[in-house]
Amino acid sequence: MSAPLRLAGKVAIVVGAGTPADGTSNGAACAIAFARAGARVLCADLSPDAAQETVRRIAAEGGEAGAVVADVRSAAQLQAMVDTALQRHGRIDILHNNVGIEAFGDLLELTEASWDRVHEINLRGAMLAARAAMPHMIRQGGGSIINMSSIASRKWSPMQFLSYSTSKAALNHMTRVVARQYAPQQVRCNAIVAGLIDTPHAAALYADAEAAARGRAQRDARCPMGRQGSPWDIANAALFLACDESAYVTGIELVVDGGVSLG
Ligand SMILES: NC(=O)c1ccc[n+]([C@@H]2O[C@H](COP(=O)([O-])OP(=O)(O)OC[C@H]3O[C@@H](n4cnc5c(N)ncnc54)[C@H](O)[C@@H]3O)[C@@H](O)[C@H]2O)c1
Repeated sequence: MSAPLRLAGKVAIVVGAGTPADGTSNGAACAIAFARAGARVLCADLSPDAAQETVRRIAAEGGEAGAVVADVRSAAQLQAMVDTALQRHGRIDILHNNVGIEAFGDLLELTEASWDRVHEINLRGAMLAARAAMPHMIRQGGGSIINMSSIASRKWSPMQFLSYSTSKAALNHMTRVVARQYAPQQVRCNAIVAGLIDTPHAAALYADAEAAARGRAQRDARCPMGRQGSPWDIANAALFLACDESAYVTGIELVVDGGVSLG
């Protein structure tokens, strides 16, 4: 007897579901994993082509997905994204906030503009998306919000990304506060605290392909398991937080880092 799919009948929105280059980003892996588990997935992204590519990959596997353009800097676009999910599917069970950017700079190097931009996208964007989806999750009697965080939220990192670290730390605390506030309505909110993940985005932080290959080897060497995480490691964690197997889990930081933060 085959088990029912873990997300059968559920509707998921993945914000930042595209992959900006060849390969698979964290957001795309989560969207694909949700679809493989039976969810109908709305792939939201700043880039229409990137969103559409993830939809194409899901459809090629026989899954159900659609694309919508949304910039997390725009409350109106995030509201339209939620409205689109409701018009197409009548419900929203999962909101996965994947979008996150970084800007180089320690305290003495960063600019006020880059600080504001990083917090606007990483923190305010997740707040706006959750705020737009929350009334519908409450009305439905529950839902799961997943915020994509990083171990940089908890410790110093050799990469000088002060604004990134603080935006993710605030995201962790927003996750806890939202989780406690809406627990009576059965809306759960959890964070994935990712370690070093081998994504096209990580590769793009280096000047050229040679530097990226060197950087990749260095990142692998920093990890106790001898390898970085893959986007599928993130997707497996997201799948757990999205489905009813985690029905009594809320407000946590699920660390997916292969032990890299243990020292
Ligand atoms: N790769 C790592 O090592 C690592 C480690 C820890 C945490 N993370 C987190 O993972 C998440 C990103 O992972 P990814 O691989 O999917 O990244 P990614 O850079 O590939 O981005 C995914 C998508 O987000 C979209 N996007 C960018 N800005 C947007 C905006 N303003 N509005 C809407 N969409 C926007 C891009 O178009 C892209 O398609 C981030 O939250 C990041 O902080 C990554």
